[in-house]
Amino acid sequence: MIIDGKKIAEELREELKKKIIEFKATYKSVPGLTVILIGEDPASKIYVKNKEKYAKDVGINSEVIKYPDSVDEKTVLDKISNLNKDKKISGILVQLPLPKHINKKKIIDAILPNKDVDGFHPVNVGNLSSGYESKVPCTPLGCYLLLRKVEKDLKGKHAVILGRSNLNGKPMAQLLLKENCTVTITHSKTKDLKNECKRADIIIAAVGQPKLVKGDWVKKGAIVIDVGINKTANGLEGDVDFKEVSKVAKAITPVPGGVGPMTIACLLSNTIECFKTANS
Ligand code: GUN
Repeated sequence: MIIDGKKIAEELREELKKKIIEFKATYKSVPGLTVILIGEDPASKIYVKNKEKYAKDVGINSEVIKYPDSVDEKTVLDKISNLNKDKKISGILVQLPLPKHINKKKIIDAILPNKDVDGFHPVNVGNLSSGYESKVPCTPLGCYLLLRKVEKDLKGKHAVILGRSNLNGKPMAQLLLKENCTVTITHSKTKDLKNECKRADIIIAAVGQPKLVKGDWVKKGAIVIDVGINKTANGLEGDVDFKEVSKVAKAITPVPGGVGPMTIACLLSNTIECFKTANS
């Protein structure tokens, strides 16, 4: 089975559209999302453009604030401080990566946790890892929703995560622990990655290495979620060798059309959650 992230994301966006129509009637206002883009990173520009397009599409008031690479940290921190106070803004996202002279931690820490649509603020990270209500990072949330489409009960499943990033690997582990999975997080220093993968009922691959996960790394009937988006001479490729792995997996996400669309849909969902928090 190929997990159709594009279609599942579309369905989620339809639900979100309906919620926003309800908000209009109840609160006479709609959620607002501000995305800050610094510099000229081509991939970031495309991601931000898509975020804005889909936000507008579901009825979120979306704006992108662009700064040149040379912008100083204080200008960005001051802008965040103003957005924190602005009642029309439900969610704030600063697109990563940032130029070297800007301290990522300072920027993330400056966003009000209740407006942190990325779920990167330490308060949200701490709440998630303690099992409390929190904003959840969009990519792992998208992976989780895709998994749940295939398997309602994840209890006792062995999930192997490739990659330990704050964006994906670590929050993914927390989400799966909450579902009572047994979780292994692997990384670049893991000794025998192939054998770790072979033990998995669920594989989440997020390392940025094209076609790393091969057919003989995967147990028959495993579910495989591919977070990788790698630009190669053959076009976009995931971290999973789709041709090989799709022969053994019970379900697998394609690249493109798997996790990517879900990440954006989850950003919109998080923005709506922030709006609800602000209005409760
Ligand atoms: N850059 C790549 N992915 C992301 C993301 O999910 N959030 C932000 N803020 N930047 C990113």
